[in-house]
Amino acid sequence: MCGIVGYIGNKNSVPILIDGLKRLEYRGYDSAGVGILTKDKAEVYKREGKVSELEKYISELKLNSKIGIGHTRWATHGIPNEVNAHPHFNPEKTLLVIHNGIIENYSVLKKSLRDEGYQFVSDTDTEVLVNMIDVFLKKGQNLCNAVRYALSKVEGTYGIAAIYIDEPDKIVVARKGSPLVIGVGDNENLIASDVNALIAHTKRVVYLEDNEVAEIYKDKFIVKTLEDENLKKDILEIEGSIEEITKGGFPHFMFKEIMEQPESIKNSLRGRVILKDGLAKLGGLIGYEDRIAESRRIIICACGTSWHAGLVAEYMIEQYADIPVEVEYASEFRYRNPILSKDDTVIFISQSGETADTLAALKEAKRKGALCVGVVNVVGSTIARESHTGVYIHAGPEIGVASTKAFTAQLIVLSLITLLIARKKNLSVVDGREIAQAILELPNQVQEILNQNELIENVAEKFVSANNFLYLGRGYQFPVALEGALKLKEISYIHAEGYPAAEMKHGPIALIDENMPVVFIAPTDTVYEKVVSNIEEVKARGGRIIAVANNDNAKIDELVEYTIKVPSTIPMLMPVLTVIPLQLMAYHIAVKKGLNVDQPRNLAKSVTVE
Ligand code: F6R
Repeated sequence: MCGIVGYIGNKNSVPILIDGLKRLEYRGYDSAGVGILTKDKAEVYKREGKVSELEKYISELKLNSKIGIGHTRWATHGIPNEVNAHPHFNPEKTLLVIHNGIIENYSVLKKSLRDEGYQFVSDTDTEVLVNMIDVFLKKGQNLCNAVRYALSKVEGTYGIAAIYIDEPDKIVVARKGSPLVIGVGDNENLIASDVNALIAHTKRVVYLEDNEVAEIYKDKFIVKTLEDENLKKDILEIEGSIEEITKGGFPHFMFKEIMEQPESIKNSLRGRVILKDGLAKLGGLIGYEDRIAESRRIIICACGTSWHAGLVAEYMIEQYADIPVEVEYASEFRYRNPILSKDDTVIFISQSGETADTLAALKEAKRKGALCVGVVNVVGSTIARESHTGVYIHAGPEIGVASTKAFTAQLIVLSLITLLIARKKNLSVVDGREIAQAILELPNQVQEILNQNELIENVAEKFVSANNFLYLGRGYQFPVALEGALKLKEISYIHAEGYPAAEMKHGPIALIDENMPVVFIAPTDTVYEKVVSNIEEVKARGGRIIAVANNDNAKIDELVEYTIKVPSTIPMLMPVLTVIPLQLMAYHIAVKKGLNVDQPRNLAKSVTVE
């Protein structure tokens, strides 16, 4: 969740670190710090709050160093303040460490370090790590060995970077469970927790795997295992441009990412739909298609928004591919004893490809012999690499903390997987073509909805002071109700709940009064008439109703206070369309409340801790 960046080369590292931290700020933003080595000192500069605070502070100091590390924090141990911000020092202030992850046995280690005379200034688990490394340095080990020995005592997860005054020609990094990537430059090298921080400097990268350590010099890098075996690593070329990770004239990343969905959807389906045969072609699944189609059961594991995409896929796959589907929260799956066999396929959906719970669930499913399929956005991420096979969603970098374009791209890929396996089973070419054609029409239909941004903003304006919201939908629209509620609560801090519309009468109906806005996602599908009955029930109790309905449904306007209209497609794809107004509504409400939509409080983009 925290962001890590480091530089070694011939340039001043400080502006490079600050720029990198800004690009990583979506990963954590409660405090930030940089650490550098100067002639005879290790120096640390930290600030509570955002990277801009740190930048303001150090801009007056005219710092200059050719080696440095930087960190933007998402607090786990200890409140967000300057003391707990990284980097952390050893007692002599010669060693600096930044860390992403959680040291689970930190209290045991802390006690033994205290017994050895170490004192602690912060509440962080990272300070335990820096002192553990210090113990081995004091025993005469070099930095890399000291890091290896210290990490061998550690339980938990880490991506770390360390610099040491006695070895000023290197940064030592290591990873277990938290991503770390080396950016290979020309007479300079960088390290970071994700490629966004590197892309302005180099597109050549090396991904560290779990239990690997690396020494990064300005002109070379050495990667080894924690047990000191040297490894040969491939340098990969990353895709994507710097424009893709900047706001490009939009006021917020979230707005940009909502508005670019026609393009991101096109990218997700490019080259993957064979219209004339009603087929989907997914390169990543070649060789595994039959095994997936013959699965006894498909389980979908994910968290948050990705879990909502999984719920939509459950409806899709069961409708068209005749395979029973279960959708699981990865965080629950990993600690149950899931009954799995080699006849099962488990699909892991993750935008970041680094979510700790999803990754742990993946490892568990692999152990039990199931086929593991990743549906991931970030290329080269851990879940993508650990899965047996998979499909990238190609949504492009998603920087806004609230997931938007990744959700619709996930739905596209899941509909393509459905089409692929359904055509191997009972779906006819004619029905396959109908789905393929409908998928291809989505980018233009999404654009039509985005063109109504102003109207949606006007609706949002009416509800800025609401304290609660209810989102209701049925069938394919039930997961959309959950997603609409999640979008609103995470960025506007308005309490919102999503429910299957018919469940309302079993409890939530008690909440309905004139202060309870209710969003009905009510496309004209097989359950539409039943949803209309639910609308009447809310109306009868004075609730204020916003409906998302089809363009050709004029009748609904008489029933509800506000309607947002969307084009029509087949039911399995309607979620791609109905979610768009909900994303825009959440965005506009949050902006009108003056909130930071890209970096909502307490959240982080990539949840790499449990
Ligand atoms: C919500 C949101 C989160 C993520 C969840 C899983 O807008 O972004 O709920 O969907 O943390 O993240 P990934 O998809 O990266 O595994």
